[in-house]
Amino acid sequence: TTATAPSPAPAPAPDIRKGLTGVVVDVTAISKVNPETNSLLYRGYPVQELAAAKRFEEVAYLLWHGELPDAAELAGFRAAERAGRALRPNVRAAIDLLPTTAHPMDVVRTAVSVIGASDPAAADASPEANLAKAKSLFAALPAVVAYDQRRRRGQDLVAPRDDLDYSANFLYMTFGEVPDATVVDAFDVSMILYAEHSFNASTFTARVITSTLSDLYSAVTGAVGALKGPLHGGANEAVMHVFDEIGSADRVVPWLDAALAEKRKIMGFGHRVYKRGDSRVPTMKAALDALIAYSDRPDVAALYDTLEAEFVARKGIHPNLDYPSGPAYHLMGFDTLTFTPLFVASRVTGWTAHIMEQAASNALIRPLSAYVGVDERHVRA
Ligand code: ACO
Repeated sequence: TTATAPSPAPAPAPDIRKGLTGVVVDVTAISKVNPETNSLLYRGYPVQELAAAKRFEEVAYLLWHGELPDAAELAGFRAAERAGRALRPNVRAAIDLLPTTAHPMDVVRTAVSVIGASDPAAADASPEANLAKAKSLFAALPAVVAYDQRRRRGQDLVAPRDDLDYSANFLYMTFGEVPDATVVDAFDVSMILYAEHSFNASTFTARVITSTLSDLYSAVTGAVGALKGPLHGGANEAVMHVFDEIGSADRVVPWLDAALAEKRKIMGFGHRVYKRGDSRVPTMKAALDALIAYSDRPDVAALYDTLEAEFVARKGIHPNLDYPSGPAYHLMGFDTLTFTPLFVASRVTGWTAHIMEQAASNALIRPLSAYVGVDERHVRA
């Protein structure tokens, strides 16, 4: 007797979440983003409190170690950071090979790769080795960013000063002088706010690369590439292009009419996670306000406020961190093309914290896809 086998039930349609929207892919103990309460915690601390009371070095230490440093730990970390600031000769040589027309994000990406290729311990993925690499990259990147902006301006390299904190030295290496405390403080706040934001695109990129058991430098190099795009870190640069394009507050309405008619995305607005406002914006806006007052640029405030009010009124979409940080970096004196590399110098702390977290509890990240191409066919003999 032969029974006909029942035909298999059709496979259920796969549940595709394009852009991984709303998908929780893993746990993390590094930061908590809560869009309901508009809050962002680094290792449990509200980011606003860290920005008000701590310097970026302390926040970097917190992200890696899970606790703020005590006085001795901070002194030790600061001494190591100061000792690692100088632009390494082979990194400088590699940068000098690149045309000044190269995007600064491509320069930073290349510099990270050169630093990795020159580290004899690059393949050592032990927690101690990865922590040492993270701290060394943190110390080394400001000189890369500063030197690249200077060479574009036809200026010479400025050697670091070891009597200055991270932010004051970063600005010194870029501009050849230490600016007013208003500028240093605003810069430090921006570094703290950009440092970490859970599973954003660049951090996830770093975690994917780490999940293959590749090395930390490869993961950071890939993360720089992901950050470059204007839907992510490249938005701080793009915001400044928008400000330049509009020119002045009285031109906001016609500009916005035309931009929305063309279905343009307005850079610096919107966020995948925050739908009612980005938790970091009020703190960065306060820093921008201080810079506007210091540099006596009410025109920047007028343009900023008018564009925000008009866009929120029309679309109900709120600014993200890149909206205040773009004009803030401009008022500090940075070239617009340098803005996203500044984000790299900060976010390298969060990336490397996530690389270490991924490595400590690894599973290869390898999702599935649903095939929608042509049906099976055969090569003709
Ligand atoms: N300008 C105009 N419309 C927007 C914007 C914007 N900035 N942001 C969202 N929208 C609209 C979309 O067109 C879409 O409208 P529709 O439903 O009519 O098609 C709707 O709002 C939903 O937007 P999505 O792009 O689908 O939402 P998503 O979560 O993918 O977008 C993103 C998030 C990519 C950040 C988006 O808001 C955007 O492109 N913003 C501009 C770029 C930017 O500022 N990026 C910085 C991110 S924060 C950071 O990296 C620090």
